[in-house]
Amino acid sequence: MKKIMLVFGTRPEAIKMAPLVKEFQKYPDEFKTIVCVTGQHREMLDQVLHIFGVIPDYDLDIMKQGQDLYDVTVRVLMGMRDILKKTQPNIVLVHGDTTTSTASALAAFYQQIPVGHIEAGLRTHNIYSPWPEEMNRLITGRIATFHFSPTLLSCQNLLDEGVKKEAITITGNTVVDALYMVVDKIKNNKALDVKLKNILMNAGYDINRLKDGKRLVLITGHRRENFGSGFISICNAIKYLINKFPDVDFVYPMHLNPNVREPIYNVFGTDLSNWNNIFFIEPLEYLSFVYLMEKSTIVLTDSGGIQEEAPSLGKPVLVMRDTTERPEALDAGTVKLVGTGYDKIVGELSALLTDKIYYEKMSKAVNPYGDGNASKRIRSFVCSIL
Ligand code: UD1
Ligand code: UDP
Repeated sequence: MKKIMLVFGTRPEAIKMAPLVKEFQKYPDEFKTIVCVTGQHREMLDQVLHIFGVIPDYDLDIMKQGQDLYDVTVRVLMGMRDILKKTQPNIVLVHGDTTTSTASALAAFYQQIPVGHIEAGLRTHNIYSPWPEEMNRLITGRIATFHFSPTLLSCQNLLDEGVKKEAITITGNTVVDALYMVVDKIKNNKALDVKLKNILMNAGYDINRLKDGKRLVLITGHRRENFGSGFISICNAIKYLINKFPDVDFVYPMHLNPNVREPIYNVFGTDLSNWNNIFFIEPLEYLSFVYLMEKSTIVLTDSGGIQEEAPSLGKPVLVMRDTTERPEALDAGTVKLVGTGYDKIVGELSALLTDKIYYEKMSKAVNPYGDGNASKRIRSFVCSIL
């Protein structure tokens, strides 16, 4: 029996790898599925494991408060050395662009174990944006033997870099598999609807506020290159907007990184409950986050995964970054880059909240990232090569 090891460590990797874990686990006679989490994230990773019912075989538990890139790299590399020696998988599957992915790929390479890269070939062509993710992707791509590209464009990026066509498979993005799993679960499920409403209420946001057509702007942010002045500018723009649009609700589930929270406290004060129409809440587990995204009017974010999810729910996305490695939805007109500048964020969000025609144009549902069957395609390719 072939041993497949899936390695991941942060919230978005877990969301995007969970459907693949489930897919391999459907075939216990063909594959021994080994799940190894690095614990680069702790609470935010555990939320996802819990929602998808994934039980890791190994957990490196590396997270430290305020960890830097060296801490994560070294701890993952050293932790993976022993686990790989012990388990000797036939292939190691890593995801995307985190330090967990790159350090795990390197650890596998040092034992000459082939690596399969999920979500391969995304590029901004600027190694400092997003940082360090663009370099992480490049390094992981050089190490990988097999590349699972979500789209034609990401496949073309790899071909342009000289990767052999036979080594690439276009699969769609597993984020769509995850999203459909969750949307299916929520749809027409009255009991779950009540449960999610309660979860949100306990988290600090009463969804009943939206009953009479009140609009909702959903905000997330965490990019390293935005730390400091970028986040201060974002927060100042949001502060202006909540006053300009007192009838609109703003909900901001805050990433646990202290570098994200500090500018929020600087701009909004240490008592975040002082505001009438902005709700700062703890990170939501995936089901309630998707539920809230589904109810939102506009999404303001610097997230990679949310750029892929929101367009398929027909939600316009303003991306607080200067570049994107996911230009497909940009081309479709449902996503717009606004950077972190105060004027641009205020201008674009105000336009979407006041110009109905502009809003309609950006809010059509498109899904260039997949059809919900990416995991099946990856499993079938892995089956054919082993
Ligand atoms: C990481 C990834 C980034 C990804 C993001 C998703 C790297 C270099 N960065 O960035 O690509 O987009 O995750 O969210 O791989 N923390 C907690 N609990 C948690 C998670 C984080 O307390 O569950 C805090 C800790 O203080 C931790 C800090 O956040 O030290 C930073 O976490 P880290 O994984 O290093 O960076 P992210 O900014 O989350
Ligand atoms: N997400 C979540 N709860 C939250 C915020 C985001 O479950 O409170 C999900 C979101 O739906 C997406 C993923 O987390 O699938 C994105 O994670 P993040 O923005 O941290 O990382 P990125 O995608 O930028 O790497």
